[in-house]
Amino acid sequence: MATGHRPVMLEEAVAALQLGPDDFVVDATFGGGGHSRRILDELGAGGSLVGIDRDPEAAGRASGLLQDPRFEFVSGAYDEALWELVEEGRGADAILFDLGLSSFQVDEPERGFSYVMEGPLDMRMDPRSGVSAAEFLNTVEAGELARVLSEYGDVPRAEARRVAREIVRRRPLEVTTDLYDAVRAAVGWKERGGNPAKRVFQAVRVRVNDELGGLRRALDAAERLLTPGGRLVAITFHSGEDRLVKRFISEREGRCVCPPELPVCVCGARPVFRRGVVQRPSARDIEENPRSASARLRAAIRTAEPPGEDA
Ligand SMILES: C[S@@+](CC[C@H](N)C(=O)[O-])C[C@H]1O[C@@H](n2cnc3c(N)ncnc32)[C@H](O)[C@@H]1O
Repeated sequence: MATGHRPVMLEEAVAALQLGPDDFVVDATFGGGGHSRRILDELGAGGSLVGIDRDPEAAGRASGLLQDPRFEFVSGAYDEALWELVEEGRGADAILFDLGLSSFQVDEPERGFSYVMEGPLDMRMDPRSGVSAAEFLNTVEAGELARVLSEYGDVPRAEARRVAREIVRRRPLEVTTDLYDAVRAAVGWKERGGNPAKRVFQAVRVRVNDELGGLRRALDAAERLLTPGGRLVAITFHSGEDRLVKRFISEREGRCVCPPELPVCVCGARPVFRRGVVQRPSARDIEENPRSASARLRAAIRTAEPPGEDA
């Protein structure tokens, strides 16, 4: 029952990418290609775009764009694809991350991402590799599961422990409604604060796809790949990924950490990125596309400084 994906913060993202006609651009999260199509509209004949997605179904959606000689699609994880571009010696003028899931993925019960439709507990963006949500939930130790729920889903600690114990008690879990029912049994139904299953499903998905590890490695690659003046734009959808992007940029802003009594900087502060805009979707965007409600766009500009040592 795929319904299509409406790109989030499309105009804001394109503005922050500051595209020039001959730019080489990377759309690290192709999805349904909404941002990619718009980027190609902005580029001239000398520009080019690489779209990346680890979901095998995204490759099919990208096939229509392959007639455009400026477009190339890479099927795989964005951290690996970006590091390959670095190793090939390429230099990008702009990189976009529109993180999380596409509506194609959420609206397809067989993928197991939705807590409102029954389907197998899979949740892998690339179902050809890695461990499914069911395999993870049926083998993880309760303490580790509680940590995953509170760290990746912001589930309050006491609630995370109750949910983890209930999941372990109900094993084996096979379908999404098994997980949903475990959450309901552990924490009941809350009038306020949203459906508690939402955060639990998010946490499991983030863990199963190693979303934060992949993003960290991808940002390190982006630091190397962007040419001086290159633009990094990331649209995040939950606090874990937003914190990661925010910290990545602020750690590279090269703020001087010398004691204030020193007359000149001796700490060697060298900004690798300059912070750009931070934006939220407009009330109208949220009304037209409720899935954009938690989005936050962060932009940064690469300076000419060499990458940091840990990059
Ligand atoms: C929110 S959607 C992108 C939507 C897209 N901007 C559009 O307008 O259609 C995020 C996409 O990123 C992909 N994705 C998430 N993490 C990824 C990763 N580590 N490597 C490659 N693709 C990833 C997902 O499979 C999904 O298709």
